[in-house]
Amino acid sequence: MSIPAKKDRSVRFRTRDAQETMALAGLLSQRAPAPGLILLEGALGSGKTTFVRGFLRGLGFKGDVPSPTFTLINEYGRTRPPVFHMDLYRVEPGELENLGLEEYLGHPEAVSLVEWPAVLEPLYPVDRLEAYFRHAPGGRREIRLRGWGKESRRWLESVA
Ligand SMILES: Nc1ncnc2c1ncn2[C@@H]1O[C@H](COP(=O)(O)OP(=O)(O)OP(=O)(O)O)[C@@H](O)[C@H]1O
Ligand SMILES: [Mg+2]
Repeated sequence: MSIPAKKDRSVRFRTRDAQETMALAGLLSQRAPAPGLILLEGALGSGKTTFVRGFLRGLGFKGDVPSPTFTLINEYGRTRPPVFHMDLYRVEPGELENLGLEEYLGHPEAVSLVEWPAVLEPLYPVDRLEAYFRHAPGGRREIRLRGWGKESRRWLESVA
């Protein structure tokens, strides 16, 4: 299911349905470095929240995984590693400093998964995984993963 694109070291996955997207995320969750960061980019409805749901299932979390559209951040403190799920769709650059997101991103053991991360760009650490979601024919999704930095490249290699 994965197609490595040699040039920029990204890896493309095709998923047929939400279950497959969740399975991919679940696999990544079991190999997660601590700290870890995944930036989730892609259109509305392309599967970013579904991916986070799979990530948490992979860590054994059984409860609801709602979209943090209004809360901005949902914290899952009891999984190992702990997970922060953010959705910054509504956040303007000027609002950023009031939110204290650096504290979450700087957490030494947690994995953060961030939907609509562009506003955070000045704060991106060197080491991070980027996931680009695209609608593909037949209701499928193309998910391209790209590792920046040593830890995240190793992370990606562990599932590719
Ligand atoms: N291959 C697939 N992978 C993921 N989701 C899929 C797939 N096929 C169909 N779906 C459906 O597409 C929808 C994706 O919704 P989701 O909330 O995950 O998108 P999102 O990227 O988080 O959107 P938003 O930007 O609004 O937060 C879900 O209803 C899911 O069941
Ligand atoms: Mg979402």
